[in-house]
Amino acid sequence: MRALALDVPPQQLAVDAVAVALAGGQPLAGAALELDRLLGGLISEVLGAGEHRGRPNEVLPLPTGGRISARRLLLYGVGSGSDLDGQRLRYAHHEMVRAARNYGYRRLGVVCAPPLSAGQLGAVVEGCVMGAWERRSRQTGSRATSLDELQVTGFGTGRGDDVAAALQMGEATNRVREWQNLPPNELTPDALAGIGREVAGRHGLDLEVLGPDELRAGGYRLLLGVAAGSAQPPRLLRLEHRGAGGSGPRLALVGKGITFDSGGLSLKTATGMETMKADMAGAAVVLSALDVIAARRLPLDVMAVVAATENMTGPAAQRPGDVVVGAGGKSVEITNTDAEGRLVLADALTLALRRGATHLVDLATLTGAAGTALGHAGTVAVSNDEELWGLTERAAELAGDRAWRLPLYPEYRGLLRSRIADLRNSGYGEAGAICAGMFLEQFVENRPWVHLDIAASSWNDNDDLTSIPRGPLGSGARLVVKLAELLAAGDR
Ligand code: BES
Ligand code: MN
Ligand code: ZN
Repeated sequence: MRALALDVPPQQLAVDAVAVALAGGQPLAGAALELDRLLGGLISEVLGAGEHRGRPNEVLPLPTGGRISARRLLLYGVGSGSDLDGQRLRYAHHEMVRAARNYGYRRLGVVCAPPLSAGQLGAVVEGCVMGAWERRSRQTGSRATSLDELQVTGFGTGRGDDVAAALQMGEATNRVREWQNLPPNELTPDALAGIGREVAGRHGLDLEVLGPDELRAGGYRLLLGVAAGSAQPPRLLRLEHRGAGGSGPRLALVGKGITFDSGGLSLKTATGMETMKADMAGAAVVLSALDVIAARRLPLDVMAVVAATENMTGPAAQRPGDVVVGAGGKSVEITNTDAEGRLVLADALTLALRRGATHLVDLATLTGAAGTALGHAGTVAVSNDEELWGLTERAAELAGDRAWRLPLYPEYRGLLRSRIADLRNSGYGEAGAICAGMFLEQFVENRPWVHLDIAASSWNDNDDLTSIPRGPLGSGARLVVKLAELLAAGDR
């Protein structure tokens, strides 16, 4: 797909359709008003009749009757006021482009009249690129229209770099979604490591891939314990972009890469397992983010660490009741084999620390409780460090990739207490997302750390949430790239 920012009046865009953003309840202004005039008051008539209310996911095609160069006008809503943050804006454009493709438009113009500010160009382009993602790519005979060209106008000239960056970030997000969607018989732990190899190869990054022998030698028994029930060998990989050559902070992005989570012997229900091929979303995010970070040659040392394995029920599977000591040296009583993410992440965090990481950010589809807390609308965060959290919060806002912090009250520590080991791996049912985060905190050796639980924010399976796209969302990728940029710029 091509994306261009043009300084051409919307009535002259050479496209199939011109999409015009409507903000709920706000009067037409700027280019939209001009288009309305050229079209004999068509837009205001539709608005006056209440046929469009400017809400996200409200997309209405109208014929232009040859009065402008495009054959169709596409009215779409973006919401308004304080509703309109970067995530809403991106998803509104996602849904608009999806509708445009359903109508068969291959070349699309997007008119960004007020109320969108100049800074929102990136949001518009990223959202549109995400909407161009083809989720049915594996269906034989699928003939969904692909978007060939996006022309954005209303942001002025000289925005080529901004458009290119947004296109790159949108495509990186789409890659995460593609990987989330890969069937687990294809995306095995070794195949996931293969993606890491490709990313490393593309940019000449340091690469380390540990298999079962190296994992045993390094004492990574928490990861090995989870992998024990699977016929697929686990992989622990690390790739690093040395953008600062060893000076300044060394950021580790640590991703949960469970390529399928059956729950292990604490088996999930059939419905509980349905989307568990995407339990590697955290891994996908850190690999795709590092790809962008390396491509942009950010002046920062950033490593991606991925713990890749299945969680299965084979004859050697670990049992509830097992006690396992991982690379971090703490003993863990496995009270629930379905709380496997924190186990593999604990070892991955230890690897990152052993390799010199100074700042840790982990991303994981870790708990159903994250969905209970925030639903699909945002990522649950916990952190032990005000400064790193402050940067993360800013990055989330700038990237339109929401994260909301929950507290680590000391009282919750009791939820991790085991009678026979240092820790137990599952709590007692309350504060589930926090409890999982607190388990990880035991393995970060007091380094600045942020944990992002993307269990619900990275996949929307709720039909009622129409202003959030369905299926994989790639959440977290935009956030961590932005965070690395802030760190690289010395914003700390
Ligand atoms: N992968 C799941 C979490 C999950 C649930 C992700 C739903 C996406 C959608 C994780 O491994 C898990 O099973 N967590 C358990 C933890 C519990 C046993 C303490 C959960 O949330 O039920
Ligand atoms: Mn699980
Ligand atoms: Zn899991």
